[in-house]
Amino acid sequence: MASNIQIESGKGKLGILTPGMGAVATTFIAGVISIRRGLSKPVGSLTQMGTIRLGKRTDNRNPMVKDFVPLADLNNIVFGGWDIFPDSAYEAAINAQVLDKDLLNAIKEELQGIKPMKAVFDKHYVKKLDGSHVKQGGTKMKLAEAIIQDIEDFKKKNGCDRVVMVWCGSTEIYIKESDVHSSIDNLEEGLRNNNEDIAPSMIYAYAAIKSGIPYANGAPNLSCDVPALVELAKQTGTPIAGKDFKTGQTLMKTIVAPGLKARYLGIDGWFSTNILGNRDGEVLDDPENFKTKEVSKLGVLEHILEPSKHPDLYKDLYHKVRINYYPPRGDNKEGWDNIDIFGWMGYKMQIKVDFLCKDSILAAPLVLDLALFLDLAKRAQMKGIQEWLSFYLKSPQTLPGLAPMHDLFDQLRKLENTLRYMMGEELITNLGQDYYEEDSE
Ligand SMILES: NC(=O)c1ccc[n+]([C@@H]2O[C@H](COP(=O)([O-])OP(=O)(O)OC[C@H]3O[C@@H](n4cnc5c(N)ncnc54)[C@H](O)[C@@H]3O)[C@@H](O)[C@H]2O)c1
Repeated sequence: MASNIQIESGKGKLGILTPGMGAVATTFIAGVISIRRGLSKPVGSLTQMGTIRLGKRTDNRNPMVKDFVPLADLNNIVFGGWDIFPDSAYEAAINAQVLDKDLLNAIKEELQGIKPMKAVFDKHYVKKLDGSHVKQGGTKMKLAEAIIQDIEDFKKKNGCDRVVMVWCGSTEIYIKESDVHSSIDNLEEGLRNNNEDIAPSMIYAYAAIKSGIPYANGAPNLSCDVPALVELAKQTGTPIAGKDFKTGQTLMKTIVAPGLKARYLGIDGWFSTNILGNRDGEVLDDPENFKTKEVSKLGVLEHILEPSKHPDLYKDLYHKVRINYYPPRGDNKEGWDNIDIFGWMGYKMQIKVDFLCKDSILAAPLVLDLALFLDLAKRAQMKGIQEWLSFYLKSPQTLPGLAPMHDLFDQLRKLENTLRYMMGEELITNLGQDYYEEDSE
């Protein structure tokens, strides 16, 4: 299936800007720098380590993804961002306690050169944080304009040809979509009137999308997931993707649940609990901030299992998700899942998963892939919601009325077929009848 997509060159410098320069952002930045210097490998990144099958299985064409589609080169990436603390990426990475000090010291100078710009922040939306490195005064519209100016200045100062933005800031309190989010006019009016339903993450998203800069949201806040910003993204030719990086427990859930469903095994209950002790865990310790995360995590099983289609198997499923702030663990989260399942004739069984993961180690490659693929999408003139990037997200943004796909393997097929489509290659259906038909002739 040939497409007529013309992709502009990916040469030149790409700026990756992250609102929020905490554990995830600094693990991402330090990782890319150490990979560039040959000190580490980009494990967990599909853009850097993945291969993609082209044509028939017998063709043996399996190029690296980065050789197949014209992605920005890691050596051409420039980092920047905003935070409510003035710490450089080096200090923030030391505080986050994710990466070894030896490794951070080996790249100290470069990390120290990356300093956050002053943030758009309001404690009302993140109850547990207080910081002084914050833009003061003016309406929310004035703050959005200040971010637009920051982006312009960053681009000029660093000689960037292109820029993308990935939200790596804290999870904000739960906000329901309302009238102010329903159209560009309403949103702009709301920005001028300091409407309370516009959180800082939405101000950054507005600034990026207004400037035609691709935007991805790694947290569960609404941010770009409202009609007004989808409309603006189409108007300004901007690709967007949200929301909430799919890492630890939800990653496991979207691997295990499709398998159980594929075999039509029933599930009575799925209890998920976590302990973690990083700043993200502290922010999520507040009930209003946790509510945002809970909503993002709960939707997954409902969509994969489709209880309305399979009432005998999933109608009574009891799904509970808990996150407990437990400082001794730092970024080394432990996530337990107890799954009560039943099989043939209703006989009961249990599955226990104990995932001792490192949250930011799982999230960092997703920041990289989302940034590189959004930059590719922009150069391919793809605009609005990029559902093919659902693979990376816990609560994928889709058109209203279009159910999101949560099954990790469906998401991977969608992503790969989108890349094939962009490059004018045949889509792969896995039908494979032709191998056998040729055989019998
Ligand atoms: N690590 C994971 O596996 C994972 C998975 C899914 C989602 N997330 C989300 O990613 C985000 C980042 O996680 P983290 O572990 O790096 O958290 P973190 O607390 O270490 O870093 C977040 C940073 O954002 C800053 N910040 C908060 N509000 C801001 C604002 N308005 N403007 C600029 N900076 C702001 C904070 O000061 C902090 O430095 C969180 O929302 C988290 O829920 C993380």
